[in-house]
Amino acid sequence: MPTMSGRNRWLERALLDNIPDMAWLKDRDSRYLAVSATYLNVLGVAEADVIGRLPEEVWPADIARVYLRTDHAVMRSGKRRRYEESRRGPEGSLRWYDTIKSPIRDEDNHIVGTVGISRDITKRKAAEAELIASREQLRKLSEFEQQAREQERARIARELHDELGQTLTAIKMDLAWMRDRLGEPDIVLARVERLIGIADQAVVDLRRIATELRPLILDELGLRAALEWLTQSMAERSGLPITLIFEESGAYDPDVSTAAFRIVQEALTNVLRHGAATRAGVSARHEEDALLIAVSDDGRGIDRAASGSGRLGLAGMRERARLLGGSVAIDSKAGAGTTVRVRLPLDRRPRRKTAR
Ligand SMILES: Nc1ncnc2c1ncn2[C@@H]1O[C@H](COP(=O)(O)OP(=O)(O)OP(=O)(O)O)[C@@H](O)[C@H]1O
Ligand SMILES: [Mg+2]
Repeated sequence: MPTMSGRNRWLERALLDNIPDMAWLKDRDSRYLAVSATYLNVLGVAEADVIGRLPEEVWPADIARVYLRTDHAVMRSGKRRRYEESRRGPEGSLRWYDTIKSPIRDEDNHIVGTVGISRDITKRKAAEAELIASREQLRKLSEFEQQAREQERARIARELHDELGQTLTAIKMDLAWMRDRLGEPDIVLARVERLIGIADQAVVDLRRIATELRPLILDELGLRAALEWLTQSMAERSGLPITLIFEESGAYDPDVSTAAFRIVQEALTNVLRHGAATRAGVSARHEEDALLIAVSDDGRGIDRAASGSGRLGLAGMRERARLLGGSVAIDSKAGAGTTVRVRLPLDRRPRRKTAR
């Protein structure tokens, strides 16, 4: 490389003394021609220990080998390289660097050496790692809370159904017994009849509440039966026709059934609440190792502007699917309806007992 004029030397020095990164210039043999002040600080050496030397005279052998190799690669290809590298600092702690190496070309476009800049990104790396760890922790927490909620709901549903349901039935039976033995007076008979009616209604209410908490049918008869119940009861309650097509239903992992059921439940609730639809449909089928479910309506479509923060339905669907390694895709056009497509992988072995 031609030697620099005095003026260029000062300019180079001004730049190298002020760059907050490690920076260097090397000739074709990888001998250091110039380094930044930060470079010397990081290594804890004087300029005279570096200039005119080869990487193996400045760095430990293993690191020097890597640097020679990348220098050669850059000169051979004539292309700039950018990569992240880690090294132990002189005080022994691991530090990360974002490094750029480029060829230096002379006026005839011949490659005469390399230039490099290495920025310390240890703090950013640590922040990234922390973010990843805290996301993972949040994910675990949300998974745990979902499991816990399902289990709690199942327990309350069972208790309502088995305990309180039995008690109410016993009251009703005794009332019926009294009615059958009461001849006159009319006024007592009428009161007993009314109590029987109330007890009947209480049993119906209780079943509905228990089922809404968690349909026992899901645990007992499986996903298909639970979706049949769900679509029927939602159609009855709302007056909206809801069709269900379930091809090749199978026995699913309880986590998959629960997720599929809750996602369809939320999607249909959205259709009733926001859709302004005239009909809705649920279809489920298998493809390779996944359960595919689509919930569609012919309503007004999702207004992206309206779906701001604080709305948890769609986010909850995504989270449930993601926890099982699946996904949710939403297809919606203004005025042309909405389709929520869910993909849940089936190849997973049951991980743990879910709500039972
Ligand atoms: N089938 C649909 N048709 C039209 N708009 C929909 C449909 N599903 C969702 N949306 C729109 O997307 C928004 C977000 O839905 P999301 O389920 O996340 O929230 P939400 O139903 O408003 O509240 P919640 O947290 O109680 O579910 C809704 O507020 C609605 O504007
Ligand atoms: Mg919703």
